Amino acid sequence: MPAIVLIGAQWGDEGKGKATDLLGSRIDYVVKFNGGNNAGHTVVIGDQKYALHLLPSGILTDGVVPVISNGVVIDLAVLFDELDTLSSRGVDVSRLRVSANAHVITSYHRTLDKVTERFLGKRQIGTTGRGIGPTYADKINRLGIRIQDLFDENILRQKVEGALFQKNQLLTKVYNRRAVGIDEIVDDLLSYVDRLRPMVGDTALELNRALDDGKTVLFEGGQATMLDVDHGTYPFVTSSNATSGGAATGSGIAPNRMERVIGVVKAYTTRVGAGPFPTELFDEWGDFLVDNGAEFGTTTGRRRRAGWFDAPIARYSQRINGVTDFVLTKLDVLTGLEKIPVCVAYEVDGVRVDEMPVSQSDFHHAKPIYEDLPGWSEDITGIRDFDDLPKNAQDYVLRIEELSGERISAIGVGPGREAIVVRHDLLG
Ligand code: GDP
Ligand code: IMO
Ligand code: MG
Repeated sequence: MPAIVLIGAQWGDEGKGKATDLLGSRIDYVVKFNGGNNAGHTVVIGDQKYALHLLPSGILTDGVVPVISNGVVIDLAVLFDELDTLSSRGVDVSRLRVSANAHVITSYHRTLDKVTERFLGKRQIGTTGRGIGPTYADKINRLGIRIQDLFDENILRQKVEGALFQKNQLLTKVYNRRAVGIDEIVDDLLSYVDRLRPMVGDTALELNRALDDGKTVLFEGGQATMLDVDHGTYPFVTSSNATSGGAATGSGIAPNRMERVIGVVKAYTTRVGAGPFPTELFDEWGDFLVDNGAEFGTTTGRRRRAGWFDAPIARYSQRINGVTDFVLTKLDVLTGLEKIPVCVAYEVDGVRVDEMPVSQSDFHHAKPIYEDLPGWSEDITGIRDFDDLPKNAQDYVLRIEELSGERISAIGVGPGREAIVVRHDLLG
């Protein structure tokens, strides 16, 4: 089982970190291929809780080689801060590899992220404010700074000058902010060079060689399908490809080497930030999901919006990503509900629609059509075998499996590393 992709199937925070950790000791390399420190993965190991943003979650497993590949945008202050924090807690971070082609987030990207959001007013996206969008915009606009540029001061200075030429006009004349000095940016970036140099290389070559040698490589997606810049609820999305295709372009590993795609899906739905969300709840059941599921963002601490499971979204994700196995997380959160509604289709202007509507406006006013499934009240957090789950919990899983179009191979029944019911071997 050489290359495996793991992605979020909804709007993020499905529990990808925990799912990656589950595969932990059976993988040799774990690759973050998209996004940056907008991600927030919480992994609970025993009484220890780790919050990862820029580093892939697989870093918590001894012996795994963590890789930040070309598709990622890197805030260097965050990178070294996270490395230092993990080292101080006894995690070995010495093997980290960083692509020379990854792009760098600078202070002007963070500033632009915040000011453009403010100026959007009611049309705000609710970004994490980490500079993600402006950094990817510069990359596509061919004005970005790459990791490799840091190793040649002349080139770096020229590139920063080129980028600031336009940005300083924008910052001062449109947004009323101060101009940014070239030296201030260059000096800041150069301050990381000595620590960075030994980690940097041609990660595409290294990963291809690892696969040639029969190693197992896990590609860990940040964000999720519905936040993907091409396939998500544009413009309420992030600025990278968070779907499985992004793993190929974001790493330099060809799609035909990827043999399995694991889609992580929550037993209900959450979303942070603005944008359409058909099954969103504004009543006590929404509070129930947020309270029981501790639905507050790992990155920004924002309360997550919550709603029932949306099967058309799961089916859409299955198709777009080629999901071969779902990991269904947070089933335990639903314990105690008498009935659990599941969205099986939408109604758009009086017409039943079974799949994601083509038009974004239709999706904005799609009303969920629910099927009510019976709930259970028994505590399931200690259960490890599917057959030991209450009958109604088993039926809930089986119905979601049927509606989602691919098998559910593992089920999360609590936040801890061991709180999982495995039905099919994810690597087998
Ligand atoms: P990610 O961004 O997809 O990695 O997910 P987050 O870490 O942002 O959010 C998922 C949260 O749910 C984390 O706090 C996890 O510890 C927690 N979690 C993961 N799986 C389960 C589960 O099966 N049950 C419960 N109760 N919590 C879970
Ligand atoms: P993980 O990896 C949930 C959301 C933001 C905002 C939109 C754009 O933990 O699942 P950005 O800062 O990326 O430009 O913000 O995307 N968003 C996430 N929501 N989980 C994430 O990551 C997210 N990363 C970005 O809230 O709506
Ligand atoms: Mg998260």
